[in-house]
Amino acid sequence: MTDPLTRRHFLHAASAGAASVWIPRSVHGYSAGEVARSISERQHRAGISKWDLDTPCLVVDLDALERNIAQMQATMTRNGIASRPHAKTHKTPAIARMQLATGSVGICTAKVSEAEVMFEHGIDQILLTTVNVTAPKIRRAMALRNQCDGFVQSVDTSENARDLSAAAAEAGVTADVVVDLDPGGHRTGITPGAPALELAQLVDSLSGLTLCGVLCYDGGAQHVTGFAARKSRALERLEAAAETKVQMDRSGLDTRIFSGGGTGTYNIDHGTPGLTDVQVGSYVFMDAQYLGIGGERDEEVYSDFEPALTVLTTVLNAQYEGRATTDAGAKANTINRPWPIVKGETGMSYTSGSDEFGSIRYEDNASRIYRVGDKLEVIVSHCDPVVNLYDQMYGVRGDTVEAIWPIAGRGHSI
Ligand SMILES: Cc1ncc(COP(=O)(O)O)c(C=O)c1O
Repeated sequence: MTDPLTRRHFLHAASAGAASVWIPRSVHGYSAGEVARSISERQHRAGISKWDLDTPCLVVDLDALERNIAQMQATMTRNGIASRPHAKTHKTPAIARMQLATGSVGICTAKVSEAEVMFEHGIDQILLTTVNVTAPKIRRAMALRNQCDGFVQSVDTSENARDLSAAAAEAGVTADVVVDLDPGGHRTGITPGAPALELAQLVDSLSGLTLCGVLCYDGGAQHVTGFAARKSRALERLEAAAETKVQMDRSGLDTRIFSGGGTGTYNIDHGTPGLTDVQVGSYVFMDAQYLGIGGERDEEVYSDFEPALTVLTTVLNAQYEGRATTDAGAKANTINRPWPIVKGETGMSYTSGSDEFGSIRYEDNASRIYRVGDKLEVIVSHCDPVVNLYDQMYGVRGDTVEAIWPIAGRGHSI
């Protein structure tokens, strides 16, 4: 049972010592190339310190990342369902491999190009959760299916199913397909019940397609504040999908996949009858958006997973009372809200509204804690779009850089 810590106290505790460690005043500013060379040549016995990295850069705490993955898997095992993590969050094959190695049944991708990249890097169980509606994209998906037996495509209209069937025939493949069900938000998916059943029967009847089940993702449920409210919303919104799955079973249709859920509902989703796996994304990194929703044990802070992803930034200007300016603004952090959180600190806020500069404001005007050249870390506002701003992330253990991972799916938004 976690103590009822305040959000600030939790954030401070979660990142204990991060700001009080020795921060080198002589700034090396190692580039990605230098770090990669150092790791491969083992020049530095003790390794490069993260505080010596050039900034702004993206840093992942490997201990926290591993604990987040282990926590997810332990919960899945206890609840008798699986995880099929969404790679739209990390876009990083090295992390997808870690998730698969620890028990995930596959990964999800949001875009066909993301799926291609993951497959190029050896990932071969891929559920594409977004429909493809244009001929070139459908052809690309079928070309991928031609190489990747574990590729599954979602559909949500009969026209799209027919287009997919034709493209599958043209490519000489039989494509695995899930029907995307709308949980009520009308963003994607077909209406559960009779329309969905009809579409599933059509998919089942079309040549070149194999029906594998359904997916139903309620994005709106994920960030509902308060565990009880989130739980009732998530379970209620998936009732119609669960009923549709039963109807499909009764009709003799294949429902081996019933995928849904995310980081906010990962410990709720097993309450939806028949759900096979959760498409969790953000849990690997966490972010400021998720920290605020509260959890089952801790009403104030969602502390099931640890903030593992930070942007490392350097102070550029500290000569004005009550504030400091850093080199990590919107282009390093996005302008998503809530704003990034300075790791390990209280009594200050951070905004990343201007393109090139981050802005620190001290609550107490008299204090002036950062000096020019100091480095600090901020917990990212929303992990997915921040990851998409960087070519690589540095994996650190303690303060030492242990890995440099290409974000191979970065910019693959087609
Ligand atoms: C279809 C789908 N599944 C799963 C997820 C993962 O959600 P989360 O990052 O909240 O775990 C998303 C995120 O937007 C999504 O769009």
